[in-house]
Amino acid sequence: MKRILIWDVPTRLFHWLLAISFAVAWLTSAKDQWLSVHTFFGYLMLGLIGFRLTWGVAGGHYARFTSFLYSPMTGLAYLRQILSGGGARYVGHNPAGSQAAYLLLALGLVVGVTGLFTQGGEEQHGAVAGMVSFTLGRMFKEAHEITAILMLLMVFGHLAGVAIESWLHKENLPLSMVTGMKDAPEDAPASKPYRLTGALMLVVVSAFGGWWFFYALHQPIEARLGYQVGGKDVPHVAFVGAKLPDNAQWREECGSCHMVFHPSLLPARSWQKMMAEQDKHFGTDLALDAAASKVLLAFMVNNAAEKSATEAALKINGSIKPDAFPLRITETQYWADKHRDIAESDWRLARVKSKTNCAACHLDAEAGTFEDAAMHIPR
Ligand code: HEC
Ligand code: HEC
Repeated sequence: MKRILIWDVPTRLFHWLLAISFAVAWLTSAKDQWLSVHTFFGYLMLGLIGFRLTWGVAGGHYARFTSFLYSPMTGLAYLRQILSGGGARYVGHNPAGSQAAYLLLALGLVVGVTGLFTQGGEEQHGAVAGMVSFTLGRMFKEAHEITAILMLLMVFGHLAGVAIESWLHKENLPLSMVTGMKDAPEDAPASKPYRLTGALMLVVVSAFGGWWFFYALHQPIEARLGYQVGGKDVPHVAFVGAKLPDNAQWREECGSCHMVFHPSLLPARSWQKMMAEQDKHFGTDLALDAAASKVLLAFMVNNAAEKSATEAALKINGSIKPDAFPLRITETQYWADKHRDIAESDWRLARVKSKTNCAACHLDAEAGTFEDAAMHIPR
């Protein structure tokens, strides 16, 4: 036996950075306030896996896929041997460990990509913002959560495997993933360290982290790419996804007395009723001529809640009884539920004053999107 380098520097860095990314992403998945951290580690994980796939072809001897290409059957057979107290010792990945590595890479890839599309759909944010609807984003979220749980189980399986192997072969496997060194038979080839590649990895990861946390999150709100780490009342980011339909004439006519309420906030039948009774519009007369009424109504009906795929449209519409014709968004069940916990004193703030002053608290109210990330109470 001789002591040689098995795990090259980039492989070890990949391993520990991936472990950290997964752990932090898992721990920050519960709260919206931590989304900027969560998504950072999600992107990092994707980058790391991309690197590992390349390194599996171009890396050191034991990092190459060709050095641990075992079939799942061989992996299972090896597991059985281990469980019955036997099982040969491998210096590189053993057949069961290699299956864990492949599964973790595949799951990590799926978790990362579904996360990307969850954010793109549910929050209309991130690298694929606007490419998927809210509804589709929700389906991606289901897949994201399921694969993340599978990945967590796989991590536990991997940890159990490492513990059993370490005990069975009386060697400290976690330590060898730190030092890279292991005892190996005389004829086993040693790996090259690839220190330069490792250093480059650290530079890229640090630069990405520095850019994300110290630059990108401090951009003007419209230009931000990630989520700000902030308190409850700090606006995270403004909406940057696909824009909702717009109409200059509607904006002008309906925006002269109050903020323009996007058509996606009420169903078509409500808009029809509102325009039919336009001489009694909350105590005023809209006094629109027939031509203008027609144009506005067409725009409102064509983009009403039932035609729109934003979260607000879907949920507001879902909370209205089929036989109801609400003229106020603020009287719909969903709106009431969402604003129930807002303190009386907050409604009276100088910059709010009225419930219908949506834009005071929703940075994207004019656009009609009402994304979670663009909410704040202007205390
Ligand atoms: C002449 C002024 C005026 C114009 C023009 C006007 N509104 Fe209004 N609107 C009001 C007033 C006043 C209220 C009641 C506001 C309040 O209660 O805070 C109101 C309330 C509303 C509400 C209910 C808000 C809520 O959820 O409580 C909707 C929806 C609405 N208007 C839509 C429109 C649309 C669509 C147009 C264009 C076709 C329009 N308004 C044009 C004066 C106007
Ligand atoms: C005083 C500030 C304030 C005003 C004014 C206000 N909102 Fe909100 N709104 C909030 C807060 C805070 C939440 C988040 C509530 C929660 O889920 O914790 C919210 C949530 C929402 C949501 C749900 C968003 C989501 O994705 O969960 C919608 C939709 C919404 N508001 C629409 C409106 C509309 C439309 C108006 C104007 C008619 C309005 N809001 C006026 C503060 C305000």
